[in-house]
Amino acid sequence: MELQGKRIVLGVTGGIAAYKAAELVRLLGKQGAEVQVAMTEAAMHFVTPTTFQALSGRPVFTDQWDARMPNAMAHIDLSRQADCIVVAPASADFLARAAHGFADGLLATMVLARDCPLLVAPAMNRQMWESPATQRNVAQLAADGVAILGPACGEQACGEVGAGRMLEPEEIVEEVVAFFAPKVLAGRRVLITAGPTFEAIDPVRGITNLSSGRMGYAVARAARHAGAEVTLVSGPVGIPAPQGVDRIDVLGALDMHAAVMARAQAADIFIGVAAVADYRVANAAGHKLKKDEGGIPPVELIENPDILAEVAALTDGPFCVGFAAESHNLEEYAQAKRRRKNIPLIAGNLIQDGFGSDDNRLVLFDDTGAHPLTPAPKSVLARQLVEHIAKLTGAA
Ligand code: PMT
Repeated sequence: MELQGKRIVLGVTGGIAAYKAAELVRLLGKQGAEVQVAMTEAAMHFVTPTTFQALSGRPVFTDQWDARMPNAMAHIDLSRQADCIVVAPASADFLARAAHGFADGLLATMVLARDCPLLVAPAMNRQMWESPATQRNVAQLAADGVAILGPACGEQACGEVGAGRMLEPEEIVEEVVAFFAPKVLAGRRVLITAGPTFEAIDPVRGITNLSSGRMGYAVARAARHAGAEVTLVSGPVGIPAPQGVDRIDVLGALDMHAAVMARAQAADIFIGVAAVADYRVANAAGHKLKKDEGGIPPVELIENPDILAEVAALTDGPFCVGFAAESHNLEEYAQAKRRRKNIPLIAGNLIQDGFGSDDNRLVLFDDTGAHPLTPAPKSVLARQLVEHIAKLTGAA
C-alpha cells in the first residue's frame, strides 16, 4: 500500500491506450490511492465512464459544466482535493493544450487551475511523438515542472514500431510511487550489490547460497525513489530489475568484484547487500565432470577478494555500507565486521529473518551504536536504510 491515503485525479484522454487506464485505476486503488477519474470527450470514444466509475467507486467527471458540482467549478474543486494529477494516456492534443495553457475542456482547465503536481504518460503514434511540435510541447511541459512518464518504444496499435507507446499501468504506478518519495539522495550515484554469487565447480555445477536478491533489489529501488542514479550489480536471481535501475548481471565473486571495482570510484555511495561467497573453486573443470571419471572429484577452495573492504580502502572512495547476516550474536559480529572492513555503517540481520523472505528484521550499526528497525517488508526497511544513509552523508 505504497500510495495509502494519496488522492489522485486520473485524467484520461482520447487514444487507444485509454483501455489500459482502467487497469491503472485498479492498480492505483490496490496501492491505497483514492482515484477520481476525469475524461475528455475523445476518451469516451474508447472507454465508457461507467468502466471507470465501477473501478474507482466514484462518479466520473467529463464535463466542465457538470451539474453535480454545486458551485459549477469542477475544474477547481477536483484538483484542490488532489495530491497530484496523472494524465494517462496523454494524447498529442492534450500535451499541446497543456503546454499552451488552453482552458477549453474540463481536463485542460483543471490542469491549468491546479495547485498540485502534474504527471503525464504520453501515448501516440511514433510520428506524432517525434514531430517537432510534440517535442516542443513536451520540452515546455518538462520546463514547467511537469513529470513526463515515458513513452516506451515498441509495436504500436497502428502496426508501426517506435517511441510513443504508453508505459504499462504497473510502470506508471511505480513512477507515481517514486514521485512521492522524498528525494533524500537526489543526484547521488549509488552502487549496490545484491543476490548470491555462484562459484562454478564445472560448467553446470557450483557453490552458491540462498540469497534471493530481494533485500538488495529493495535497497536499489528505494535509492532510485530517493532520487539517486542507481547501478545494481546482481548475482543470479529470479526477480526483475527495479524500474529505472541499471542492472549488471554477474555470476561469480570475481565477476562481481570486477564489475564493482570498475564503477566504485565514480560512486558516491556503495551498499554491499550481496551474499558473496568467501571462497571459489580453484580447480573448476572446463567440462562437465563425469561420475565415472574416477572417484569423487576433489574441490579445492581459494579465497575470494573482499569487495566491500577493497571499496572502503579506496582513496576518495564512496561512503560504504555493508550487510551482515549472522545466526547469533548479531551486534557483536556485525560491529566486528564493520570495524574490520573499516566502514561507517552496517545493517545486521539474522539469517532466519533475512534470507529469501519478503520481510526482514534489520539493526543498523554505526559509530553512534545500534539502531533497531521495526520488523517490516524489505521495501519499507530499504526506505529507512536509505534515509539513515542520507542522514549520515549529510544529504538529508
Ligand atoms: O537476498 P535476500 O534473500 O533478500 O537476503 C538478504 C541477505 C540476507 C543476503 C542480506 O540482507 C545480507 O545480510 N547480506 C550480507 C550477507 C553476509 O553475511 O555477508 P558477509 O558476512 O559474507 O559479508 C559482509 C559484507 O561484506 C556484506 O556487505 C557483503 O556484501 C560484503 N562482502 C563479503 C564477502 C566478499 N568477498 N565481498 C564482499 O563485498
